[in-house]
Amino acid sequence: MNNRESFSGKLGFVLSCIGSAIGLGNIWMFSWRLGQYGGAAFLVPYLFFVFVLGTIGLICEFSLGRCKKKGSYSGIKEILEEKNVPFKNIISTIPTIGLFGILIFYSIVVGWIIRYFCSAFAGDFYKVNITDYFNNFVGTSSSIIWHGLAVFITLAIVSFGITKGIEKLNKVIMPALFGIFILLMIRSLTLDGAMEGVKYLLIPDWSYLLKPITWVMALGQAFFTVSLTGSALVVYGSYLKDDVDIPSSALQIVIFDTLSALLAAFIIIPAAFAFGLDPCAGPSLLFITVPSIFKSMAFGQIFSVLFFLSIIFAAVSSAINMMEAPSEALMNRFNLTRFKSVLIIGLIAFIAGIPLDLDMNLFSKFSDFITIYISPLGAVIATIVFFWVYGVDKARKEINKGAKHPLGKWFNPLGKYLFTTVSIIVLILGIIYNGIG
Ligand code: TRP
Repeated sequence: MNNRESFSGKLGFVLSCIGSAIGLGNIWMFSWRLGQYGGAAFLVPYLFFVFVLGTIGLICEFSLGRCKKKGSYSGIKEILEEKNVPFKNIISTIPTIGLFGILIFYSIVVGWIIRYFCSAFAGDFYKVNITDYFNNFVGTSSSIIWHGLAVFITLAIVSFGITKGIEKLNKVIMPALFGIFILLMIRSLTLDGAMEGVKYLLIPDWSYLLKPITWVMALGQAFFTVSLTGSALVVYGSYLKDDVDIPSSALQIVIFDTLSALLAAFIIIPAAFAFGLDPCAGPSLLFITVPSIFKSMAFGQIFSVLFFLSIIFAAVSSAINMMEAPSEALMNRFNLTRFKSVLIIGLIAFIAGIPLDLDMNLFSKFSDFITIYISPLGAVIATIVFFWVYGVDKARKEINKGAKHPLGKWFNPLGKYLFTTVSIIVLILGIIYNGIG
């Protein structure tokens, strides 16, 4: 296939990957973990893991995609076929299935966010008890229509393709997201009592560095936040021209992802302190605590509209990456048009998600199963296939194709031994701790 689409250049590619990386993990998990695991002390293991391992992981997935100019499913299958590795069909499907699983439950949350954006716009938070509002919506049939809308928006963007859909959108919404985040952070830091939150985030409690849990959570966060699943970034890498510098792109993506997580923390935590609310993790932070903050804030309605708009940007730019990978696999496997593949993937994701719309228990079981077992396994598969089966020397050659500062031989053990081992450790720790990403 020589008429394969490609990103127009490095900028579009990097912004699209930043779009994938910045998601709910940056917003509802990072800020909470930062405060919970020793404040600034948490940054020590986190920055180390995300800058070293996150960058290597990104480099691996992008180059795996680019070397065969194929997404995870077809690319891995081709490499396994060349080396006559058994079980190639199952192995090559796992990373993409994992990502498809994430798409199924993630779209539901995107639906909740769209609904909250509309509610913010209409000023509904002023009229209701927010806890009841959340409980009467989530886990009930009234969320289905919003879920459908989320899938539809994602599908519409992905069906326009790489340059006209995914890249174009990210070029607009990523800068907008950073603009809104900076504005919201200024608002949050100037609230009365916000400094308590800043202290909570910044005063390091070094004793946390002696606790294994701090390191485990930092590691899980580092892998999840840059979207390492052995599939999402492989497909973006597969649309990359050979002259694009992969190592420097990876580093830029990690820098902006980390910045956004820090901004989110400095928006949410100081505001929560200013209004005496508990900065918790997960859906209740975004859907109960945050709206309560806006309710008591001067000009809260404008800020709540902006806030939920930026969360839509963060979530949709991740969802389109999740939809692109299985759609590309289908396109390649059955020779379908982009539009047909995307439609099929979108429809199945929507229908499969409906039982989860209706039952939050099932929702957590399903999302745990995917994020604890399948997608970390996908990341392990991609690593082993690239550094071991394809071969670390060839892998490094591929990585260095467009690189200004090519990686030397010293990189071989980092990729082949260190990174492979750590990916396996992430999978095992996730199982032991019941989820770390
Ligand atoms: N990185 C995203 C976040 O921080 C979550 C994520 C994990 C993701 N795996 C992904 C996004 C794959 C897109 C594709 O929230």
